[in-house]
Parts: sequence; structure tokens; C-alpha cells
Amino acid sequence: MSKLKSIVSEGAGHINPVDVADYLRIGGYDGLKKAVAMKPLEVIEEVKKATLLGRGGAAYPSGRKWEHLFHIPETPKYIVCNADEGEPGTFKDRLLMSKLPLRLIEGITIAGCVFGAKAGYIYVRGEYRKIQRRLLEAISRAKDAGFLGKNILGKFDFDIHIISGAGAYVCGENSALLNSTEGRVGRPRIKPPHLAEVGLFLQPTLVNNVESLCSIPYIVTAGGEAFCKLGRPDSGGTKLVCLSGHVRRRQVYEVPLGGVTLRELIYDPEIGGGLPDGQRLKFFHLGGQSGPIGSPEQLDTVYSHRELGKAGLSVGSGAVVVMNEDVGLIDYLTGVTEFFLHESCGKCVPCREGNKQIYKILKKLAKPGEATAADLALLRRLVTTMISASFCGLGQTAAVALNTAWKHFKGEFEANVDQSKPAAAA
Ligand SMILES: Cc1cc2nc3c(=O)[nH]c(=O)nc-3n(C[C@H](O)[C@H](O)[C@H](O)COP(=O)(O)O)c2cc1C
Ligand code: SF4
Repeated sequence: MSKLKSIVSEGAGHINPVDVADYLRIGGYDGLKKAVAMKPLEVIEEVKKATLLGRGGAAYPSGRKWEHLFHIPETPKYIVCNADEGEPGTFKDRLLMSKLPLRLIEGITIAGCVFGAKAGYIYVRGEYRKIQRRLLEAISRAKDAGFLGKNILGKFDFDIHIISGAGAYVCGENSALLNSTEGRVGRPRIKPPHLAEVGLFLQPTLVNNVESLCSIPYIVTAGGEAFCKLGRPDSGGTKLVCLSGHVRRRQVYEVPLGGVTLRELIYDPEIGGGLPDGQRLKFFHLGGQSGPIGSPEQLDTVYSHRELGKAGLSVGSGAVVVMNEDVGLIDYLTGVTEFFLHESCGKCVPCREGNKQIYKILKKLAKPGEATAADLALLRRLVTTMISASFCGLGQTAAVALNTAWKHFKGEFEANVDQSKPAAAA
């Protein structure tokens, strides 16, 4: 029996993405039609029952987020879709937006209906120019068909706007994303206040990822329980997984959360198909550059938020980057750190300086005899400081790959260290 599912991605590649009639044929807009006839709290109850953990990376329960926002009395409220997809190794929102833009529009419109919002925004990664055009086309078609704009299904008004990012990874962080949407510098805001209270234009705001919002039509149509049962009670539904690196079949797969192991993801002939040309697995990197690195001994871990969490791993954005034995760990981590060094917004010291110092030490570790034991000790201190003292998620997660790799491959960090040298720091 196939391990793959087709729920959130159902219809991808089989319909004309912007044709409303095609979308209706696969059950499109059933969710919105149902939602407008329900009380807002009934819809939120379904989202809670679904145990939908945010698909943007932080895995925050969407039901709780929706309930919190609902009880904030201030209006107007805004709906914002995080389509920045800046996490390296992540390309599933691109698939949803290019193949099923109407599903995303439907999900956002359901949220608009629940919260009585008049406007929604999709903040799209700047590099996704073609997708931005496709979304604009889909928005226009949805309006023509009466599913967006004035008097939707005879019940409410709601419009969706497209905002283009400009290529900064930090703008995927939800508060930086709102600043950028407002035309300000894309730097994170201090929290609290939560964005549900003080969000876009300082108004109550819902921020959800593309995949999270694309799950909403199914949740409303089939019910939260049905969605939850596709996965596990603690992490409901399916997840789009992005397989890349040294694996045969690099693409997006939709799998039931808790229904496959990491081994199946990488080696099953229907999914990753294993490494090519007899290559052997050295490690895998989950959830993007900000996620943990795992070793082959962890391959039998079940792919769900809880099981991965117990193993010190995480789902994150859904990226699974596979690396073979030829990859030098220090080289790989240098690349990861270079990314964060480049993307750090510079607002806080632990991240701005921490990434710089880690980069320097990794460069030393790459050359035999250059680094000392004191460098390794400093590296460990920097990692702890960055994780605990950085202002936003970027700095807090920048050293997660390094920290987890340390657990499995300590020997590789120590290989080039000259133990005879005095313990002078970097
Ligand atoms: C540096 C950084 C980059 C992020 N990039 C993204 C992104 O590209 N897309 C996304 O959906 N969430 C991203 N997030 C997570 C968002 O801050 C937020 O948790 C998410 O949009 C909430 O939606 P969800 O609950 O549906 O996942 C990022 C977080 C950080 C700290
Ligand atoms: S951790 Fe600090 S420097 Fe790094 S991106 Fe966040 S706010 Fe900017």
C-alpha cells in the first residue's frame, strides 16, 4: 500500500491552477461554502480538533492561535499568509502556490470569514516572480467567480493582496514579515505583544504558513477529526516533505505524520529511492538550515513532531537534505554558518557576532593544526549563548545544526585540533 497521501496537494498537476471550474470539480470551495454557514467558533473548533501544527517551521498549534485571535475584540483584523519560503531545502509552498493557488486563496478566505477581516495579504518570496503573477491571476479569477471581493457567497467582503519580499531570510520571521509588509525595514519586533494582539498596522493579525492555510479547506470540509486521524493525535494530518541532496528522487512528497520513518522517506522506492550509485548515507539535515542534523542510527525514527522531538530532531519546514559519506561535516557546517552570517539582520549581538566567530573557528577547524582545544570550548560557549540569548528565531536556531552535529560527529570536530598547542582562544 502506498505510504503517500494526497490531501493538501490533491489535484496538483491535474488541474489548470487558475481555472475556478477545474478547482470546483475537485471539491474546491466546499470548505468556504460550509464555513460561511457555520459560526466562527465552530470553524475554530474544527481547526483545534485537527491538531494542525503550523507548517512554517515552529509547529505552533493553529487552533490555539485562531482561538486567541478570535477573542481579541479590536478590529479590523488582518490575515497574513507567510509565503516567504526562505528556508534552504524547502520548496513545498512553491508547489502549492504554483499548482493550487485557489486552495490557498480559499484557506485565507475562510480565515477572513471566521475573523470578520476585510483584507488578507500573501507575503511571497521575492524570487517567486512567476508564482506572484499566478497568484494575482488566481485572485482575479476567484473574484470573477464570486469567491473573493465583494459579497462573497452573498455573505461578506474580503480581498487578498500580494506583497513581494526582497530576498531576506529574516523576513520569514513573522514580525519581520509584518514590518516588511508595512514598508519598514524587515527586522523582528519584540514579543510580547503577540501578533494576534498587535500585528499588521498594529492591529490583531493572523499569520499562518501557506501549507497550514492550504490544510484549512479540507479541515472544514471533512472535519478536524478526519484530518487529525490522517496523522497522529499529537500531530494531525499530513505533511509535505521536501527531499533533496544525495537522494535519487528529489521532490515534494505528502506523507501522513507518524505514518513513515526517516528510513522510508529516504530509501523507499516510492519516495526517496535511496542514495544513487551505491553511495552511503553520512547524515541528514531536517527542517532547513535552522534545523537539526541526524545520523544513520536515527533512521528508524518515526516522522512526527513528537517522535522526532524525542530523538532530538524536528519536522521544521519539512526539508530533508540527504548527505553522503563524501561530505565533510566541517565544510557543510561552514556553509550553513555562512548562510546565517549573511542573513543575520545585525540587530542583536549574539547572532551578529556569534555567527562571525563560529565561522572563523570552523575555518580553523578545516585546516590541520590551526585550531586549539580552547577554540572548541569557545565554539561550545558561542552555541549556547546564541541559542539562549539571540533576539529572534534566526539567531536562536542558527547553531542548531552545529549543536546536533556535535552529538553525532564529535570526532570530526576534534580531528584537526592540535592538542599540543597552548589553549589560546580564537
Ligand atoms: C528566521 C525565520 C525565518 C522564517 N521563515 C519562514 C518562512 O519562510 N515561511 C514560514 O511560513 N514561516 C517562517 N518562519 C516561521 C514564522 O515566524 C511563523 O512561525 C510562521 O509563519 C507561522 O505560521 P504557521 O503557524 O502556520 O507555521 C520563520 C521563522 C524565522 C525565525
Ligand atoms: S537573532 Fe538578532 S541579529 Fe539575528 S536576525 Fe534575529 S534580531 Fe537579527
